[in-house]
Amino acid sequence: SPLEQQLKDLQSFQVIAHRGASGHAPESTMAAYELAHEWGVDYLELDAQLSSDGEVVVFHDDAIDRTSDGEGAINDYTLEELKALDTGTWFNEANPDSASDDFAGAQMLTLDELFEHFGHDARYYIETKSPQLNPGLEEALVEKLEEYDMIENGRVLVQSFEQDSLLKVQELNDDVPLIQLVWYYPSEEDDSKLVEWTGVTPGPAEITDEDFQAVADYAVGIGTNYLYDGQEVIDADFVQQAQENGLPVHVYTINETEEMERLMDMGVNGLFTNYPDRLLELVE
Ligand code: G3P
Ligand code: CA
Repeated sequence: SPLEQQLKDLQSFQVIAHRGASGHAPESTMAAYELAHEWGVDYLELDAQLSSDGEVVVFHDDAIDRTSDGEGAINDYTLEELKALDTGTWFNEANPDSASDDFAGAQMLTLDELFEHFGHDARYYIETKSPQLNPGLEEALVEKLEEYDMIENGRVLVQSFEQDSLLKVQELNDDVPLIQLVWYYPSEEDDSKLVEWTGVTPGPAEITDEDFQAVADYAVGIGTNYLYDGQEVIDADFVQQAQENGLPVHVYTINETEEMERLMDMGVNGLFTNYPDRLLELVE
């Protein structure tokens, strides 16, 4: 089945366009997703949140200030209000070398618009962002995934830092493949011990097979950071141990070619990147 094929594909290397080709076009806009899709990435990554009137929108920050001409919490605005924002001009101002008139006035995307545009011709790597600030997000998201037949067609992964959010999705539809996101940072007591992780109950000093198995119980993979303050927080042993416990490893967010190569040498199963063009060049 297409869903089985998708899970099989997770064993090989996946190119994941982080908020679209967001190094080249304003993040989370149609321009960024179109570029990534044209280049033939494996997944379009996106962060899902809710407008005040319950529409699922594609947006990363809790506040709209950084990437639009508005201000305040995204959840305080109706879809109509969010649609009136310009989510492209900030990019032109911040990146004069990549600026384009096409980006100016870009509208915030709904999940509907993204699904209508690419349909089953793309795969989507969807994060339930800030679940506490977006109550009802899981229900609204799963409804959309079902409406567009994304799950059985092997088109979607749902990712979250919050285990509860993933379990909620699973309860709503237990066919949705889930990715547990983790965020490692050095231990305060002993910086040779690198690990705390969010998402699962409080951080172990070392990651055991049991920790990985606890994730493998509900998830099909793990998404992790690579560096904290320039220090590596995962290594080849981590990758191997995760894989031995049945969890492919995807690493966010890797934009430099040299780091891409280093992680590919470690045997990771995919990278989130704002520059999928650089990664595709290495993969080919
Ligand atoms: O979803 C993987 C990565 O995107 C997590 O970090 O903050 O970019 O959503 P963030
Ligand atoms: Ca994300």
